[in-house]
Amino acid sequence: MNASAVVIGASGRIGAATEAALIDEGAYGRVYGFARSRSGVDHLDILDEHSIAAAALRVAAGPAPSLVIVATGYRASAEASVADLDRDRMAEGFAVNAIGPALVAKHFLPLLEKSGTPVFAMLSARDASLTDNRLGGAYGYRASKAALNMLAKTLAIESTRSGQRAAIVAIDPGTGPDPERTALQLLDAIEGLGIRDSGKFLSWDGTEIAP
Ligand SMILES: NC(=O)c1ccc[n+]([C@@H]2O[C@H](COP(=O)([O-])OP(=O)(O)OC[C@H]3O[C@@H](n4cnc5c(N)ncnc54)[C@H](OP(=O)(O)O)[C@@H]3O)[C@@H](O)[C@H]2O)c1
Repeated sequence: MNASAVVIGASGRIGAATEAALIDEGAYGRVYGFARSRSGVDHLDILDEHSIAAAALRVAAGPAPSLVIVATGYRASAEASVADLDRDRMAEGFAVNAIGPALVAKHFLPLLEKSGTPVFAMLSARDASLTDNRLGGAYGYRASKAALNMLAKTLAIESTRSGQRAAIVAIDPGTGPDPERTALQLLDAIEGLGIRDSGKFLSWDGTEIAP
């Protein structure tokens, strides 16, 4: 049977459109979509490692995934100035944007198919680029996504060193108003990825973003 594909955060704008596009494409033996708002075996709260482990166990029972997309994310609205910073809001941003995806990696990377070049893609944001940060603001969001990018790079090093052929990337999906289009662009960019791309911070068009 063909490999499976997994979308974590399948209730979000981009996550839902990506799950739908993958089902529509028909290239995968199975498409799993997990979300906090889904119940039973489709439930996954990225803040709860038990639910991540349970989702991984479910995927492990089917065809090995050749694609895992982490489409969850949190952006606090009031972080324009340092005076706005709030400990709990920042902690939630780091938990959802950086720690959660790392725990998804912990449970899902061992499941990736052993042949070909499976892809583990985490949705990041151009806002995480130090080079590109000319506007300031969005403190917690920028910092937590920058942490995510560092995690992607570090996971890629360990994965390659241990002989795996996965492409592990952080990718900015772009800010277009049409999630269906965004999902198709994202899947296009992911399709061409090779082991040489592992650890990169990419834009939706497949080009590299300066860290
Ligand atoms: N849209 C853009 O313009 C844009 C631009 C750059 C980067 N990005 C990044 O792309 C990703 C997707 O963006 P989007 O526009 O689709 O965002 P969205 O519509 O707000 O969706 C966010 C997703 O994250 C999930 N989520 C949040 N906290 C969670 C938790 N504790 N456990 C499980 N799921 C949780 C949400 O689940 P619920 O449905 O349960 O809330 C939802 O599925 C994010 O990482 C975002 O930072 C988006």
